[in-house]
Amino acid sequence: MTQNLADTSRPAADAAAHEAVTPAPVTGGASRGWWRDAVIYQVYPRSFADSNGDGMGDLPGIRSRLPYLRDLGVDAVWLSPFYASPQADAGYDVADYRAVDPMFGSLLDADALIRDAHQLGLRIIVDLVPNHSSDQHEWFQRALREGPESPLRERYHFRPGKGENGELPPNDWESIFGGPAWTRSENPDGTPGDWYLHLFAPEQPDFNWENRAVADEFRSILRFWLDMGVDGFRIDVAHGLVKAPGLPDLGGADQLKLLGNDVMPFFDQDGVHEIYRSWRKILDEYPGQRIGVAEAWTPTVQRTANYVRPDELHQAFNFQYLGTGWDAAALREVIDVSLDSMRPVDAPTTWVLSNHDVTRHATRFANPPGLGTQIRTPGDRELGLRRARAATLLMLALPGSAYIYQGEELGLPDVTDLPDEVRQDPSFFRKAGQDGYRDGCRVPIPWSGTEAPYGFGPVAGGPSWLPQPAEWAALSVEAQTGDPASTLELYRSALAVRRSQDDLGAGTAVEWLEGPEGTLTFRRGSFVCTVNATDEPVRIAAPGKLLLSSVELAVDGGETVLAPDSTGWWAV
Ligand code: GLC
Repeated sequence: MTQNLADTSRPAADAAAHEAVTPAPVTGGASRGWWRDAVIYQVYPRSFADSNGDGMGDLPGIRSRLPYLRDLGVDAVWLSPFYASPQADAGYDVADYRAVDPMFGSLLDADALIRDAHQLGLRIIVDLVPNHSSDQHEWFQRALREGPESPLRERYHFRPGKGENGELPPNDWESIFGGPAWTRSENPDGTPGDWYLHLFAPEQPDFNWENRAVADEFRSILRFWLDMGVDGFRIDVAHGLVKAPGLPDLGGADQLKLLGNDVMPFFDQDGVHEIYRSWRKILDEYPGQRIGVAEAWTPTVQRTANYVRPDELHQAFNFQYLGTGWDAAALREVIDVSLDSMRPVDAPTTWVLSNHDVTRHATRFANPPGLGTQIRTPGDRELGLRRARAATLLMLALPGSAYIYQGEELGLPDVTDLPDEVRQDPSFFRKAGQDGYRDGCRVPIPWSGTEAPYGFGPVAGGPSWLPQPAEWAALSVEAQTGDPASTLELYRSALAVRRSQDDLGAGTAVEWLEGPEGTLTFRRGSFVCTVNATDEPVRIAAPGKLLLSSVELAVDGGETVLAPDSTGWWAV
């Protein structure tokens, strides 16, 4: 069932109205495409703002907070899924791609949100989940109901099991969330039936992208949201859609350890690129520079670049950067490799430190390196925040587009001590999954006041779907606003400087300058960025006039002392 706008079909003039209020390009690289140097803010709808007091964030809540995002100084907002979904994976299990889940509002709310955002000069990117649907999707339900002969089964990967009675999965693939990537279905008469593939939870059956109906349906879904006025799509598991012919065994258990290093028969297959070429044509048919952003976990940045060739998508997340520790040499290397890989395909490099799937970077940097992205210890919070602030200024000084995950502008740590009974990450409930502790970065945002939910919901003492720590009163937007030492004001200042300095964000290269070990210094036109990634102060010649720094930096005559774990921005 598809939800429709209550006021029936939108008149053509309305589509033009969207165009009229689409924001004018504002920053340096904009003449070649607004996305090339855009700062894009990720909203996780469940946890951003709850307008009706049910403890769950919603679209009207997001809409009411758009002025905050405009004032923060971001260019675009990416919304994680808000579609009709049983929420087996927090909305990444979509039952109807053209409907808003009632928990988040309605299509009218989505329409109002897009219009308001455009009026405020903000672009809207929505999440598209094409690798799998929910098991409650009409196609999958019919495939089960109609039994083995159903043609709808060809839109998913149904296979007979191995073993005498088909009691073993068709191949040895494991789910990213842990356990086998196959679940056995039941025939309409109640007997055990074929197995179906799900790279994630059993409630997320993978589509068969060899089937034309699947490809046609997604082209139509793209147009549906483009007609609604969205400025682009973040494409979930963009590297997973096509599976190797014959679904070959991998030949070993513990496959998740291989992720990130090897090309797997279910990830990063060359066939995915044909899909993005066809989507690019659709994006280009619409005015206003609509974009596609790949969530593609590939073994190397070079392979990521394949997703952003000129006739494919516009951006891809730079997860290699996200995975790099607070270490000057490693950072310099990943920056160089990232820029070098994107240059030949003429795509902007992206930079990202946090999202809804990984431990917040304030907590990653508070812990010893090498613990991965599902960290369960708070570590040294003060150190983590100091490094996080420095890391953010470094990220925002680099050429390309940067992603901010809601709450990082408040310096929020991950909530590492959530009780098991409140956790909802499906991977937590499956053995040895890759994820599992993602609820810690999904705790609702503190906006104001001294009592939970700290303005997340309308009533003090009201619910929030995950509990917020008591210390978050001091981290609320209200508590930080106007405090020049706060992380929120640092982000506001940084984004204001970035907008005012053409050399920030634009371009495709940095010019490295000599500096003491453990530090990074690079120049971009009339701008210099200094980073001290060590725990000792370092004295250097002051590069110019200090514009902004992550901690106070003393400038003494022609010299400056770079404080431990600090970043400085300088005009030269
Ligand atoms: C992506 C999403 C993640 C989700 C998974 C399955 O990685 O970011 O949250 O669990 O895809 O859809």
